[in-house]
Amino acid sequence: MLHFRTTNLHKFREAEAILSKHNIRVALLQEAYREVQADTLEEVVQEALLGLEPGTFIEDAGLFIDALKGFPGVYSSYVQRTIGNKGILRLLEGVENRGAAFESVVGLMTEGGQKIFKGRVRGSISQEAKGEGGFGYDPIFTPAGHNKTFAEDARRKNEISHRKLALERLADYLGGR
Ligand code: IMP
Repeated sequence: MLHFRTTNLHKFREAEAILSKHNIRVALLQEAYREVQADTLEEVVQEALLGLEPGTFIEDAGLFIDALKGFPGVYSSYVQRTIGNKGILRLLEGVENRGAAFESVVGLMTEGGQKIFKGRVRGSISQEAKGEGGFGYDPIFTPAGHNKTFAEDARRKNEISHRKLALERLADYLGGR
């Protein structure tokens, strides 16, 4: 049994669904942790893992937009809270290059120290927000090779997302120990 420390219930439900396929049970530890301002998701996760109990994991994600040189990236949470999806769509008005990537960094505390697992999915920023499922940037992100946003097809999201890829690596690590 693992503990997922997060205040984001959407993330928790996704993690539960993904890890259950690997017979890994996960309990919610609904507590916030300090997020330092850093240049990479990995640094944020490494810092936030300090002092956590073995068996606990956290996850930090970000949306990296090509035409904005990777913005909002590590600022994704602030940008979502402030300008939101509308603001991102406005920043990209008239911009042809809609390429973007979602990244997820999962950090697990073990008896032997920290383990980091990463997942990344390429896609594009849609012209308008679409779909009611998911959360955050899901209505404006269409994964490569598909024509529905993550918010329009939440089931598909869990099969191909950045979070799914990172958690699968966590599951592989636990399975292979
Ligand atoms: P954090 O990982 O909680 O720091 O998330 C950073 C920002 O990205 C927040 O505003 C989240 O809502 C958003 N976000 C994180 N993961 C996802 C996702 O899977 N889909 C859409 N938005 C996400």
